[in-house]
Amino acid sequence: MKISIIGGGGLVGSCAAYALQCGGLAREIALLDVNQELAVGQALDLQHGGPSVADQSIVGGGYEHIPSSDIICITAGLRRKPDESRLDLINRNTDLFVQILRDVKAAGPKPSAIVLVVSNPVDILTYVAARMLDLPVAQVIGLGTQLDTIRFCSLIAEQMNAPPTQTKALILGEHGESMVPIWSSATIAGLPLDKYPGWSPNLVSQLFTRTRGSGAEVIKRKGGAGFAVGIAIRDVIDSILLDSRRVLPVSSVQDGCFGVRDVALSVPTVVGRTGVVDRMEIDLWPKEVQGMRASGAALRKTLDVVLQRIG
Ligand code: LAC
Repeated sequence: MKISIIGGGGLVGSCAAYALQCGGLAREIALLDVNQELAVGQALDLQHGGPSVADQSIVGGGYEHIPSSDIICITAGLRRKPDESRLDLINRNTDLFVQILRDVKAAGPKPSAIVLVVSNPVDILTYVAARMLDLPVAQVIGLGTQLDTIRFCSLIAEQMNAPPTQTKALILGEHGESMVPIWSSATIAGLPLDKYPGWSPNLVSQLFTRTRGSGAEVIKRKGGAGFAVGIAIRDVIDSILLDSRRVLPVSSVQDGCFGVRDVALSVPTVVGRTGVVDRMEIDLWPKEVQGMRASGAALRKTLDVVLQRIG
């Protein structure tokens, strides 16, 4: 299968390509970028490592790759300043994103193509993509809180001196200020987190606050996140490529799940070859469900402004 990464010259796009290369599942990875020379350079650098990894074709270029792509991952966009919220990015990024969608449409994607939106504010842009592209809504997915979820698990694991792959804690809702930690289901090695040796209730706000600020913290320290975003993208793309139907916290246009509709945000989503296969609406603590509704309401306000802007 073929994956096109729009914004493939940039940090997020190239980290995604590298993560996908190391995963070895994709047959072909195309890096598309307004700066084609950069995209070709990134692809060449990746291609050089190929003989030690997997039999894949990795190329740079433009929208001529879209018609043959099974997955189109959009990472292009301007980056937040450290003190800027993701929603502040909207005015700067919407026009750019709408133009990308027009170019994708004009290039003629496969009717079965899955579009994975990574550009920020991801929930808003996922909604815009679902509306503008002539694809079934289930085929448009936003990276959403998959990234926040792995960041959360990594910070809990570090704090608890626990194995990161056995640390499970979920974040849902907006990929942004109103994201919701789902403490009710947090476990380490299948054991309840709140019973784990060393756990204390005051870690709750400390670990979540650091997680919510992780994007900004990384921007401040190194200019922008890349590696973890690339890994999170690979989590979603692998589930599509293998039709493995993993339940992932990714964003899509909701139709009543947890009482949220007509806005895109992250809920536990079954991800397979056809995109969103199902959603798991499972009993959570009332304050967690309230948090998700609040996320929906906050996003809806911004969405109203954006939809007016793009008409
Ligand atoms: C972050 C960007 C990708 O959270 O939103 O790092």
